[in-house]
Amino acid sequence: MRDDRLRVGVLCSGRGSNLQAILDAAMDPAYPAKVVAVISDNPRAYALERARARGVQAEIILPSSFPDRIQHDLAVAQRLEEYGVGLVALAGYMRIVSPEFIRRFPGRVMNIHPALLPSFPGLHAQKQAVLYGVKVSGVTVHFVDEGVDTGPIILQVPVAVADEDTEESLSARILEHEHRAYPEAIRLFAEGRLRVEGRRVWIKRP
Ligand code: GRF
Repeated sequence: MRDDRLRVGVLCSGRGSNLQAILDAAMDPAYPAKVVAVISDNPRAYALERARARGVQAEIILPSSFPDRIQHDLAVAQRLEEYGVGLVALAGYMRIVSPEFIRRFPGRVMNIHPALLPSFPGLHAQKQAVLYGVKVSGVTVHFVDEGVDTGPIILQVPVAVADEDTEESLSARILEHEHRAYPEAIRLFAEGRLRVEGRRVWIKRP
């Protein structure tokens, strides 16, 4: 049987719950993408076990084995190319990918961020939101450009912040939305329905 689904490589550093959501979505044969490789910079990332449990190739590429960040990124890029990926999904990857990496996959690197960008970029976005006192935060799935959390936005989902929310409670609520938003953004990409014009991403109707 011919399998022309989009080949996705996922980069993870930890828990891998977003990876799991993508793996689960891809269990449906009608879903237009499948995960062909998971690469981690962290040998203890639980994401590696999640991948192996589904029969997906899981590899560790240690930053400490390379002279610098760019060489590490280029080694990761090479493996992804060997797997023939058409999309790279960053899912809890705790490294800032270099321009050299992004140029290997132009317009084909996505990330998920647990806030409504451009608010609260960088680390601990949920804590930043609670401390700032916003009433609404949420999820952003975006293409990755050469900045940190600055690329063209594909999808956003608002999540209300309750008075009694803590970093933990808000993170848990946002995460549920992440698990729907990331597979959805990948589906739109795989269906060829995303068109980027400058900062704006247009979603074509089916
Ligand atoms: C998620 O909150 C994601 O938005 C952020 O890092 C976290 C990763 O969680 N970039 P997981 O490893 O997917 O469970």
